[in-house]
Amino acid sequence: MNNASVVAEVDLQGLLDGLLQGPLRSMTPLEQAIFRIRFELGMPDVLRPLARLYGERPDFAAQLETLLDIVARAYADRPAELRLLDLRRVSEPDWFQQPNMIGYVCYVDRFAGDLAGVRDRIPYLKELGITYLHLMPLLKPRPGPNDGGYAVMDYRAVNPAYGTMDDLRELATALRHEGISLCVDLVCNHTAKEHEWARKAVAGDPVYQGYYYLFPNRALPDQYELTLPEVFPDFAPGNFTYYDSCQRWVWTTFNEYQWDLNYTNPAVLAEMLDIMLFLANQGVEILRLDAVAFMWKRLGTDCQNQPEAHAILQAFRALTRLAAPGLLFKAEAIVSPDKLLPYLGLGAATNKECEIAYHNSFMVLLWSSLAERRAVLMTHALQNMPDTPVGCAWLTYVRCHDDIGWAVRDEDAAAIGLSGFLHRAFLSDFYSGRFPGTFARGVTFQHNPKTGDRRISGTLASLAGLEAAAERQNWHDLDLAVRRILLLHAMILVLNGIPIIYMGDELGLLNDRRYLDDPHLADDNRWIHRPYLDWNQAGQRHDWQTVTARIFHATCDMIQARKHTLSLHAEARCYAVWTHNEQVFGMIRASARGRLLVLANFTERDQTVPRHRVHDMGFKGELVDRLEGKVLDSWSDLKLEPYRVLWLEQVSET
Ligand code: GLC
Repeated sequence: MNNASVVAEVDLQGLLDGLLQGPLRSMTPLEQAIFRIRFELGMPDVLRPLARLYGERPDFAAQLETLLDIVARAYADRPAELRLLDLRRVSEPDWFQQPNMIGYVCYVDRFAGDLAGVRDRIPYLKELGITYLHLMPLLKPRPGPNDGGYAVMDYRAVNPAYGTMDDLRELATALRHEGISLCVDLVCNHTAKEHEWARKAVAGDPVYQGYYYLFPNRALPDQYELTLPEVFPDFAPGNFTYYDSCQRWVWTTFNEYQWDLNYTNPAVLAEMLDIMLFLANQGVEILRLDAVAFMWKRLGTDCQNQPEAHAILQAFRALTRLAAPGLLFKAEAIVSPDKLLPYLGLGAATNKECEIAYHNSFMVLLWSSLAERRAVLMTHALQNMPDTPVGCAWLTYVRCHDDIGWAVRDEDAAAIGLSGFLHRAFLSDFYSGRFPGTFARGVTFQHNPKTGDRRISGTLASLAGLEAAAERQNWHDLDLAVRRILLLHAMILVLNGIPIIYMGDELGLLNDRRYLDDPHLADDNRWIHRPYLDWNQAGQRHDWQTVTARIFHATCDMIQARKHTLSLHAEARCYAVWTHNEQVFGMIRASARGRLLVLANFTERDQTVPRHRVHDMGFKGELVDRLEGKVLDSWSDLKLEPYRVLWLEQVSET
């Protein structure tokens, strides 16, 4: 049977009646009517991906019923305040695309001790202008090493060191009342090997063995390995691990203790759906879906970005929207631009997959331009990226809790006369502090001798030169480092998406080597850029003599500037332009809301952009720089001081 006939056979009316008489029976007529509308509008989006995934199964109808039952129960359980939130979100669908959206990401313990501590720090977040808070993994992890919380043993409990589910719910409510949306991680590609499902699988329960990829011998793993890359070649080589306890090889893409879930089994999808809605009903507004590229395996491929991985996300989205349409999905897919766009939904799935995705390429290109002191690769690569679908937002960031992998495409490098391989090697040398004259103080993460890849760890401030300048007590270098930090933040604030400030970057926190003293962390140098927030240093933000204050206040000012610049709405097109000066990056944001020209000097020298070029791009007469509020005259060439960024709008044509 093909997918269309599977879908045609579904008795929608019968399903709806079953739900209304079952889990929804005690709801008010209005609440039932709302569900009915969502069901009628949403079921085609539910059925399309599900038929693709499971349409061949004889029990398709029963599986569908199970999923809808989960949805209906979650709808019935959804607290009244969150139902009102749904109404608000549906009434303002572009809420997350507006320029006032500013994100912050932190570890609960490293930021504020525990969840109650985070609540106490809401005033600090508001001082910065934050409207979106991503708390790093906070569900109950396995004991011992847990990959920074990405090995979850219970999705319905909070890490006891941080508090309880009640604390999480209270925090979500408190944040929401202050205009801050809570985002949490949902590790949906794998569980900890200590998760109840994995334990039952080890004990021989065939139902739970079907939740994972288990192999009796190396025959299939060997075949898969022929085309599989390694994520952690250094401390977790290979993609399979043998366990004596169950005498099986288990698929473990990441660490040995992270077992990949098997989504060919619809029971896994059902479990994860239930967890998503459970979290949404606690008040979580955005789920960061971890490692989504890996969710479907196919022999002979790299087992990433498979069409079925997209179908899984589309099914999750369509199903969750029936119960909690306010919930957003953020895809963590650190893949090349052509593979990335589909996570935002293309073609029939436009606006039907994830609303937000990490713009990894932009992040890498920023660092590349900074090292090279020219923006040619960035301009070329961005010009060759397809347009972002409307209705979505990139997550724009300078760095995150992970390493930076030099995802520069060979084609893009070649097009501007560079060797991709050598350029990536240069970036690794530059940011690990090996390149002569470099300002950066990063460390190499996961050197892979087979591919030559060397990824980089380090905080924004250390990579941008603050650590080296502080060591040398060189005020000029210190000034340049601060300018680089601000340049990078000005850039992520201007793209079509939600900018995320990584905890401590607003204060210029340096690399923190204390992780080396913790045996659970010592072998993973990503901890070097996951420092504890030093509240003493944070206190210096009010002392104008300090570098901390300079970075903090300039960052706050830029955030405020963004919030008041309508043309930065995520819907506005975003395209890179040549400025007739290789050292100055140019980009235009354009929509009915206005046009804005971004110019960014990626060097430590003054640069000029010829006025005729600025005119050619349609910016004439008096221009206002939205970042500093100053009026400039475009009748002379535009001058940019070292690392200066301008956000120019035309005031009037003369
Ligand atoms: C994501 C996380 C990373 C983690 C991996 C495995 O890529 O960002 O920190 O190691 O998933 O869960």
